[in-house]
Amino acid sequence: MSDNRQITIFDTTLRDGEQSPGCSMNLSEKLELAQALIDLGVDVIEAGFPIASPGDFEAVREISNTMRGATFCGLARCHEADIDRAWEALKGAEQSRIHVFLATSAIHREFKLRMSREEIIQRAVDGVKRAVGYCDDVEFSPEDAARTEHDFLCEVVEAAIDAGATTVNIPDTVGYAVPEQMGATIKMLVDRVPNVDKATISIHCHNDLGLAVSNSLSAVANGAGQIECTVNGIGERAGNCSLEEVVMAMRTREDYFNLSTNINTERLVPTSRLLMSITGMVVQRNKAIVGRNAFAHEAGIHQDGMLKERTTYEIMRPEDVGFAKTDLVLGKHSGRAALGDRARELGFHLNGEQLQAVFEEFKKLADKKKEIYDGDIAALVQQQSRGDSEPAWSFVSFTANSSTGDAPKVTVTLEKDGEQFSESWEEGDGPIDAAFNAVEKITGLELLCKDFQVRSATLGRDAQGSVQVEIFHKGVTYRGRGVSTDTIEASILAILDAVNRIITS
Ligand code: KIV
Ligand code: ZN
Repeated sequence: MSDNRQITIFDTTLRDGEQSPGCSMNLSEKLELAQALIDLGVDVIEAGFPIASPGDFEAVREISNTMRGATFCGLARCHEADIDRAWEALKGAEQSRIHVFLATSAIHREFKLRMSREEIIQRAVDGVKRAVGYCDDVEFSPEDAARTEHDFLCEVVEAAIDAGATTVNIPDTVGYAVPEQMGATIKMLVDRVPNVDKATISIHCHNDLGLAVSNSLSAVANGAGQIECTVNGIGERAGNCSLEEVVMAMRTREDYFNLSTNINTERLVPTSRLLMSITGMVVQRNKAIVGRNAFAHEAGIHQDGMLKERTTYEIMRPEDVGFAKTDLVLGKHSGRAALGDRARELGFHLNGEQLQAVFEEFKKLADKKKEIYDGDIAALVQQQSRGDSEPAWSFVSFTANSSTGDAPKVTVTLEKDGEQFSESWEEGDGPIDAAFNAVEKITGLELLCKDFQVRSATLGRDAQGSVQVEIFHKGVTYRGRGVSTDTIEASILAILDAVNRIITS
């Protein structure tokens, strides 16, 4: 058997993942996730697309300037301005990578770019060379490579490597490939591109046919050395290759693949939970590796087998992917240090001041509910990290009256610049609708509700309600989240969170 090969894990949750609907993050959320990705042990973090927006630029710059422990990467089209902007954002990093891309498939050449093959090669070479002028770690992606003619793909890959690309990524941009074909494409490149040994071949699969993980595995089995993936598989349309699935497939079937990674697999579940609490995008219960039911055995025969010998029905141990043995953690008498420890285990890095603020809220919550679970702690920390960015409007109080057959009446009091404002609303189809109207009246903003979801943050009837809203305002969708033991209060907090995002966007 050949030697075990180490696969580079390139995480693009903050770039390809973040650009998908419902997953946008603000700066402090991106920093929090970047730290969790470092703790998880990913090798490369694609932190954003700096020219795409000031927010993307700022996030890549801040992560590059303040964090250590991974290579930080910024995306750029093969345009001088993009590449210059990417470098401007990345230059403070200890290890940085510029990732340039240009579409190569016939469909993209003809209809999107209106460029000939020769022009594509020239633009790709110029882009790579400009990036190499700044940084010795340069990745090139022929976008829609999976639908690019093989001869032309070989030409582009060879030219990009000649120009100095140290990684050449093969994107299946539209999730069209199937595993055997993806593996054969990688093998074809390894066999035919003469300078292929001077670069790492990478794979980047989208999940439109549900094949992103299988295609990525087939690629590494055939010689690719890097996988591009996202936590929980978030990303454009049906998402990207799921980091936790592809990593655990290689680890659990090391006997078959003979591949390994630097991933600290015990951080998989905490990182997945952190992303869910930041974006509100919750994975399905039966999601492999990180879903709530991923290790739940219901059938009697299975339970019996498990009791006799775990491996009869279990191919991975829940603790290996970071499921806590027990979720019940703290209560009224727990101290600040215990709270800090648990928050750290969940992936949150709190400074002294933040910990004190979370602890104060924790004490108030512990007065309302006896048992404080991980989900409660995550919610408290999230609430606190939003408080860091000085919201324009903050919540003061509400009253609500609602009964069968009568119009609801809701009064909301908010504060801005030290002044309090109250408004009541006495019609609508329920207290939430009335609360929306009251907030609209106070803030003067038009708030169109696109989505409204309530979940319980943890177990039990006294659980906190976690509300997630999507609000449409002037052509843009904003997300908001609120958590409280009172669901109406949680709803107002979520609306307000979205309002503050509108104001600061
Ligand atoms: O899917 C894709 O083609 C991409 C590239 C920019 C790598 O995300
Ligand atoms: Zn992509």
